[in-house]
Amino acid sequence: MGVSPNEIGIEWEKVYAERAKGMRASEIRELLKVAKQPGVISLAGGFPDPTLFPVNEIKEVTDFVLLNEGSDALQYGVTEGLKQLREILVERMRKEGADIGLDNLIITTASQQGLDLIAKIFINPKDTIIVESPSYLGALQAFNAFEAEFVDIRINKDGMDTDILEDTLKDLIFKKRIKPKFIYTVPNFHNPAGVTLSLERRKRLVELSEKYQVPIIEDDPYGEVRFEGEALPPLISLDRSHVITLRTFSKILSPGLRLGWIVGDPEVVRKIVIAKQAADLCSPSITQNIVYHFLKKGYLEPYLEKVRVEYKKKRDLMIESMEKYFPEEVKFTKPEGGLFIWASCPKSINTEELFFEAIQEKVAYVIGASFYAHRDIHNCMRLNFSLPSHEQIEEGIKRLGNLLKKKIGK
Ligand SMILES: Cc1ncc(COP(=O)(O)O)c(C=O)c1O
Repeated sequence: MGVSPNEIGIEWEKVYAERAKGMRASEIRELLKVAKQPGVISLAGGFPDPTLFPVNEIKEVTDFVLLNEGSDALQYGVTEGLKQLREILVERMRKEGADIGLDNLIITTASQQGLDLIAKIFINPKDTIIVESPSYLGALQAFNAFEAEFVDIRINKDGMDTDILEDTLKDLIFKKRIKPKFIYTVPNFHNPAGVTLSLERRKRLVELSEKYQVPIIEDDPYGEVRFEGEALPPLISLDRSHVITLRTFSKILSPGLRLGWIVGDPEVVRKIVIAKQAADLCSPSITQNIVYHFLKKGYLEPYLEKVRVEYKKKRDLMIESMEKYFPEEVKFTKPEGGLFIWASCPKSINTEELFFEAIQEKVAYVIGASFYAHRDIHNCMRLNFSLPSHEQIEEGIKRLGNLLKKKIGK
């Protein structure tokens, strides 16, 4: 209902808290609306391939849960999460080398909530945090809501540049007398950059964290979606006391379940529990029960294997198509897993302006500038290969390639 002519509406801008004034709608969500126009091939979103979802297995365990555990599954649960599920996840993390117990792990309403809770317990207005350049947009948004100041560290094909990180830490701590609250990193198949932090840099990163006593937030939704190469140790397995790890079922099972988990020092986990109580009391009991039985039945591994095989095919096709249709001036990453390829165009191409022309050509991507804390890079784009079909990948890349060639004057 709108405001009637005689009524004086509230000036909401004057009522909002300072932190809400700086909040902006996620550009990705806004752009996705444009990308949904009929006929547009979207290489934009970060959605898993829905044709692969294990619908029958989820139905089977959901029926089982409702039949046998309905009264618990439909009830509030404890804030820490379903104990049996936490036990399975502790075991899973131990297999990856993380020396942890039950009090190191809490279930969250997927990783986006994890990021929000991390921000809530650590960030005061104007606190400095270190992020990658580029960085996951949803994390920038979550940290921005608590009025963080960002210092960004360039990444290249081996992930965050740890030499630059050390120089930055020295400068901040010894010259500017600023102690950053944490270093945020996406080590595997980076969103948006597609790159993976090398083993050497992983070791250096935890060394720097210890040396300068700045914790690391390791956000790892994609590590298990590796379809090529050797798995690298998670940061939490290299240093249990300086690293807080965020995991999620969104990319390894289904984002609709809205479940993830955080692993960290028991003291931090206890603080997160308190923060989570105020946020949602507990993550949905029913999905926790469903996921627990899904894992117990051993359904996750075969599903993940299928995902890896299919995503590799799609990645290969997207790379092949880019090699065929993109002008050679456009450089791109070749991820060994995950969902994204990152393309860097010559500086003369502004991908924000190009986006609207791309929509005319009926193809969409995500504008690179959205992923920079200071929005200072304008020639990049993120391309997703998990959601589009094979035909859409080839046709979408062809349309984009033709547009890029026209811009470059070929
Ligand atoms: C790096 C990263 N972190 C966190 C998330 C949030 O995912 P979810 O809340 O579905 O677990 C995403 C989603 O794309 C992501 O790419």
